[in-house]
Amino acid sequence: MKVLVTGGSGYIGSHTVLTLLEAGHEVSVLDNLVNSSAESLRRVEELTGKSVTFHQVDLLDEAALNELFASEPVDAVIHFAGLKAVGESTQQPLRYYHNNVTGTINLLRAMDAHGVRTIVFSSSATVYGGQNPYPYIEKMEIGSDNPYGRTKEHIEDILSDLGAADARWRIALLRYFNPVGAHPSGRIGEDPLGIPNNLVPFIAQVAVGRREKLMVFGADYDTPDGTALRDYIHVMDLADGHVAALDYVASHLGVFRWNLGSGIGSSVLDVLHSFERAVGHELPYEITARRPGDLPAFWADPSAALADLGWSTTKTLDQMCEDHWRWQKNNPQGYQDA
Ligand code: WQD
Repeated sequence: MKVLVTGGSGYIGSHTVLTLLEAGHEVSVLDNLVNSSAESLRRVEELTGKSVTFHQVDLLDEAALNELFASEPVDAVIHFAGLKAVGESTQQPLRYYHNNVTGTINLLRAMDAHGVRTIVFSSSATVYGGQNPYPYIEKMEIGSDNPYGRTKEHIEDILSDLGAADARWRIALLRYFNPVGAHPSGRIGEDPLGIPNNLVPFIAQVAVGRREKLMVFGADYDTPDGTALRDYIHVMDLADGHVAALDYVASHLGVFRWNLGSGIGSSVLDVLHSFERAVGHELPYEITARRPGDLPAFWADPSAALADLGWSTTKTLDQMCEDHWRWQKNNPQGYQDA
């Protein structure tokens, strides 16, 4: 299929573009490069020996969006583009709603106008919020507790309503947990701007000497080692999940939801020690206060994706950290090294 990947030069996007190319799909990428580098796509072309058409377009630019669909017909869209920092979203809710929700509505209107009605949407486990027991199951009531998560919720509602109103749509909503790791080549990986919000990129920057030490946000949770539990998933497993979901909706009309997770809860200290094994020595850390808004624990019930898509995670936490470390070691400043 010819697939347009929005946000395709980003972390999960670039790994999914590579996996799509290796599965024989043709790929175009739309990205405004506000949070990513086009270098990632140059390296994807180098790794696969295949070319990617790139469009530097913002989803808020409706004219450019319609021109893109008119000039380059595609069969399906995988939609990653969006702002995704939970903390930032609480300070800038309007920016997040406009960029993520209005941008998605513009995308869907352009798709519909050009007869493209197959979409895989990058949702997030954050939509489950704190009211649900874990492991999270797709049929649970969703209710996020931050503006970023609520943009994902609203987009899921828009896509559900669209699918209910027009039976021609084929829609996959993918709720993923905590993506970490990198392509085993070490040539592409996570390259957050500024101070990383997320655990593993922060640990990686400590390991490569860009940060002094890891602050562990709380060791007084009711968990085996007192630190919070999350469901970490290798970005290559996650990319495979997107391709499997695309293949499924290509032959199934309707709206479908799947968790993409391992079903395993790992603690902050589990992750730190796994990364230390990858690096080969201890890494400095300090236990500090809990981060406001963090949940003590959650992980996925991944059984629906296995039953429907034949998909499950294949990589261990140690493999995630080994691959993440290879990327960071080879690219201490991320893509700025290019
Ligand atoms: C994991 C654990 C922290 C950093 C977020 C978003 C979610 C999704 C994934 C987009 C927590 C602890 C972290 C640090 C720490 N993103 N931690 N020191 O919060 O589970 O999920 O990213 O979809 O929407 O909410 O991931 O990596 O930020 O934190 O101790 O410097 O690591 O407290 O327990 P989180 P995270």
